[in-house]
Amino acid sequence: MLCPSSILITGANRGIGLELVRQLLLLETPPKHVFATCRSPDKAEDLQKLAESNGAVRVLKLDVSEPESFPGVREEVEAVLQGDGLNLLINNAGIIARDNLAAVTVQRMESLYRTNTIGPLFLAKEFLPLIQKAAKAGSGQPMSCSKAAIINMTSKVGSMEDNSSGGRYPYRISKAALNMVTKNLSVDLKADDILSVCLHPGYVKTEMGGPNALITSEQSVQGMINVMASLDAEKNGLMIDYAGKIIPW
Ligand SMILES: NC(=O)c1ccc[n+]([C@@H]2O[C@H](COP(=O)([O-])OP(=O)(O)OC[C@H]3O[C@@H](n4cnc5c(N)ncnc54)[C@H](OP(=O)(O)O)[C@@H]3O)[C@@H](O)[C@H]2O)c1
Repeated sequence: MLCPSSILITGANRGIGLELVRQLLLLETPPKHVFATCRSPDKAEDLQKLAESNGAVRVLKLDVSEPESFPGVREEVEAVLQGDGLNLLINNAGIIARDNLAAVTVQRMESLYRTNTIGPLFLAKEFLPLIQKAAKAGSGQPMSCSKAAIINMTSKVGSMEDNSSGGRYPYRISKAALNMVTKNLSVDLKADDILSVCLHPGYVKTEMGGPNALITSEQSVQGMINVMASLDAEKNGLMIDYAGKIIPW
């Protein structure tokens, strides 16, 4: 069963992030606090509607490419949690660029690396004391997403073994690096009983995936919620898809 009391999600205004907020609120034991973060809360109409209809949702402004703003967001979250820890951090926000070798530029590499890799790493670092607090409060219970976890939304295209078509330099490389961030966290935070896992959401019909993608965000998120419910110490540090399949690095 997945029953974290508090969750923070990035890029929660649309696509997979918005659907995660929607479905997490429907859990059998719903979270007390969902910190649904996005770059432009004023423009996040669907998310604001969810927040109006459910007091657990707090919409917070967070641009993951601006690590210098993270302490301010952490303080807002801390004020709401009133001494409790944060159970689940979902680094979902991401951007894509499909440049091939001829098109790739330094600027594009830096931009994707900043959003897809540096952002999740430094957000995990910023929220670590709160996640450690949640882990301590659940001490004696096994590792789980209900107790204390960092989930990084990766993509199968960041897998070395899966790469048979090349291209897409900025996206592939930023997600491959995110995979290493996750693996490293899984080693470093194991002693704290904090899970770190990469999830691949599938090929999903969002603005990023486009209309020809294979599954809807509802199907993807339903699958990922089942997977998150099943995560334990044995799955720590792995890359897993929305159907529960382990993807090779
Ligand atoms: N769709 C797929 O097929 C697929 C496949 C594999 C992996 N993924 C991964 O799944 C995650 C979600 O993708 P999606 O399909 O939902 O994409 P999407 O529809 O394009 O949504 C991306 C989300 O990330 C946010 N975002 C982008 N840059 C941000 C920043 N600097 N700070 C904060 N938020 C930022 C966007 O906010 P704005 O509205 O402000 O731009 C939006 O909420 C991504 O990490 C993506 O790489 C998706």
